Amino acid sequence: MNPRALSEWLQQWFRKGTGEPAYRQLYRLLRQCILEGRLHAGTRLPASRELATDLSISRNTVLQAYEQLTEEGYVSAAVGRGTFVEDISHELPVQIEPPSAGPGTDSEPGMSRSLSKRGERLITSLGYSERQHGAFMAGVPDVTEFPVQQWLRIHNRHWRRLRPELLSYAPSGGYPPLRQALSDYLQASRSVNGAASQVVVTSGIHQVLDVVIRMLCDPGDRVWVEEPAYWGIRNLLISHGMDVVGIPVDIEGMNPTTEQMRRPPRLIVVTPSHQYPLGMVMSLARRRRILEYARQHHCWILEDDYDSDFRYGGRPLPSLQGLDEAALVIYAGSFSKTLYPGLRLGYAVAPASVAPALAAGVAELYREGQLMAQAVMAEFLREGFVSSHMRRVRSLYAARRDRLIVAVQAHYGSKLEIVGDKAGLHLVLALPDHVDDAHICREAYLRGIMARPLSMYYLRPERAKKGLVLGYACVREDEIDPAFAILAGVIDAELNA
Ligand SMILES: Cc1ncc(COP(=O)(O)O)c(C=O)c1O
Repeated sequence: MNPRALSEWLQQWFRKGTGEPAYRQLYRLLRQCILEGRLHAGTRLPASRELATDLSISRNTVLQAYEQLTEEGYVSAAVGRGTFVEDISHELPVQIEPPSAGPGTDSEPGMSRSLSKRGERLITSLGYSERQHGAFMAGVPDVTEFPVQQWLRIHNRHWRRLRPELLSYAPSGGYPPLRQALSDYLQASRSVNGAASQVVVTSGIHQVLDVVIRMLCDPGDRVWVEEPAYWGIRNLLISHGMDVVGIPVDIEGMNPTTEQMRRPPRLIVVTPSHQYPLGMVMSLARRRRILEYARQHHCWILEDDYDSDFRYGGRPLPSLQGLDEAALVIYAGSFSKTLYPGLRLGYAVAPASVAPALAAGVAELYREGQLMAQAVMAEFLREGFVSSHMRRVRSLYAARRDRLIVAVQAHYGSKLEIVGDKAGLHLVLALPDHVDDAHICREAYLRGIMARPLSMYYLRPERAKKGLVLGYACVREDEIDPAFAILAGVIDAELNA
């Protein structure tokens, strides 16, 4: 649709006197056009003055609608040239059927009532992948290395001496021996301070954040996330209707601007041990600054410690929680990376003032179970199997990472930079700004290779850096070269386009 045709279409559908603010209606209609693909990436929106005349509304109303679309990343403004539709296709890796007409569905475009507004926002920024293992899936360990025999031995013992309570719903906070084992383990390995009563067992970090939002925040509260950040956390916040603000990161980690600091958030979500996805470690000075800021402004901090166990050289830094004297940090961890993601076992260590409420929230909201897995996990931890497994896979992953770096350098020399390769399960291959990293990922996916576009981790598309997030942990060493050769073919085609 060109600007003229769009203006005519809008004149047909735009209604005055519906009770909906005019700017909101215009924003909604335009957003609908973008989501439905009527307006392709790069299309110029009509000039605000002309559209205002065509629709008999004020120019300010049009500008307000354009501003909202810009803020949400659907369009971007180029000074002196106009407002252009952004490419949002990378945010839609899965095809979602348009919601079927339900009761109350209006016949007008953009008036579907099947999804809530936050549901619609979530659908337009999905990040999950239908495939979850193989080259170069980010964030997934080699699940085939899981020590099945040790697990089975403990598991079978529990089934033989079956205690009925293990097959019922979980008590609040989770299986008590696991809470104790986690408290001891996290104190020793991550300098996390917290008694067993402060540990809340969950089905992963996602659930920690979910219960924290529900119990400690209200819809519309401001939440700081790193820019870039893990899309899963961002989407959870969006789906709760939070006011999500992206805070830039530099080499020392999260670094809010003076302007941002003037408007304190309710919650700060941060990955201090290993920034996701860029890989930097938050400096001690920055840690102290953020703790002091949170203390002064009564903000909660959620420390997402998703993969700090995987450092290749040097010891992992102690947790942020261990430095917290104001009892504002909720530490969140998970066995998704250390053991396997399908286990869905995570934990929070919360300040004593809120731990019981979070534990009650988990019990009440999700009716958790999986006590058998929690009982096995408690022994698995106490007997040292988690630590020995990690020691073993750490060297395996280090070798895979080295192999991938060699493959990248053999192909690109120093032309493309590798970022964040000192720890974790992935590295980032930086690409020039003009490159469409989402397109590369789609093309690679068709050839059986998974990679994540770095741009998808940004809240604000105009700030997005380009690159590929490449997981190496779940790729056998001998598969790395051939897989990278396929990926390099796709990258080269895009670089030379
Ligand atoms: C930064 C970060 N936090 C949290 C998670 C999810 O953790 P869990 O599987 O425990 O919900 C991931 C998963 O990839 C992640 O990358």
